[in-house]
Amino acid sequence: GTGVAITGCGSAAPKAVFTNHHLSQIVETSDEWISSRTGMKTRRLASTQESLSQMSAEAAQNAIAMAGLSATEIDLIILATSTPDDLFGSASKIQGLLGATRAVAFDLTAACSGFVFALITAAQYIRTGVYQNVVVIGADVLSRWVDWSDRTTCVLFGDGAGAVVCQGIDTGDRLLAFEMYSDGSQNNSLNLAYQGQAKSLVEELEVSSGTYQPITMNGREVYRFAVAKVPEAIEKAMFRAGITSDQIDWLLLHQANQRIMDAVAKRLKLPSEKVLSNIEKYGNTSAASIPLALDEAVRTGKVQAGDLIAASGFGAGLTWGAALFHW
Ligand code: ACO
Repeated sequence: GTGVAITGCGSAAPKAVFTNHHLSQIVETSDEWISSRTGMKTRRLASTQESLSQMSAEAAQNAIAMAGLSATEIDLIILATSTPDDLFGSASKIQGLLGATRAVAFDLTAACSGFVFALITAAQYIRTGVYQNVVVIGADVLSRWVDWSDRTTCVLFGDGAGAVVCQGIDTGDRLLAFEMYSDGSQNNSLNLAYQGQAKSLVEELEVSSGTYQPITMNGREVYRFAVAKVPEAIEKAMFRAGITSDQIDWLLLHQANQRIMDAVAKRLKLPSEKVLSNIEKYGNTSAASIPLALDEAVRTGKVQAGDLIAASGFGAGLTWGAALFHW
């Protein structure tokens, strides 16, 4: 079938729970500052024993089981991440861990928009009839890349993985509309950038050799951008689908900041009961945050079959996107 349905979800997170109080012991901050500005209370942080690939495979396994499939039936695996275990990509490693022997696997990078972009990418392969069963994973381990002495960034991020299974169906299409955007003119507001030093190989040639620098962010710019652009993208998707905001059951935003989620809900005239949020427990898990929140809401029975979900990811790039789908 060439209609798209999401038929399973799953998630995984590192064992260690790190509280705001823990953070106040390593940088000058407080539970009061962090929770009032962001809504975050705890986050999970990966130990050296835990890898992005393992967490992703666990999340994917749970999603595949919910969909009632076996790993060998998967055609495609898309891993949305900015923090792979290996810069050459981690999707193939995950394919191996899953035993998804028929599947082709690749990484996709779009920061905190990564999951939404990957979901939309998966849908195109299904709609063209090329692939039937696709696993979409959003996973990040930003704890590896924050400057743990910079209180303006290190308090915000947590680690985790979430996954969904998208399948082709014969009747209907449960992905009603989507939107995707980039604005590279604001690229410098959020970066995890390579910084090299010149190294002479021969007289005429200097190559660059170095490493990635910790995350840098202009928090206020990103905040303003998100509150302005996310409602716009969701409204465009709603217009495309012929949907009004009262028909939306759940707002499922990238979990960057509770205040951003509240402001977006307000602009869309959605009551706060319709906002899916688990930022209090996980912090900002980048590409993982949307499928992590979805999985929790599905497994606790909050999100029911048929519910209409407006999802939106936004972040570095800058990038942002929205997807309207029925669970
Ligand atoms: N603890 C205590 N004080 C702090 C901390 C901290 N952890 N961090 C900053 N402060 C101080 C600042 O130094 C500043 O002090 P000053 O007034 O003396 O200079 C004061 O608190 C206020 O700082 P602001 O940056 O103005 O605080 P703001 O209310 O804007 O909140 C925040 C900051 C939470 C980062 C907010 O701007 C935000 O959420 N922005 C969006 C960020 C975001 O979503 N990023 C992720 C995008 S997703 C991705 O792609 C990875």
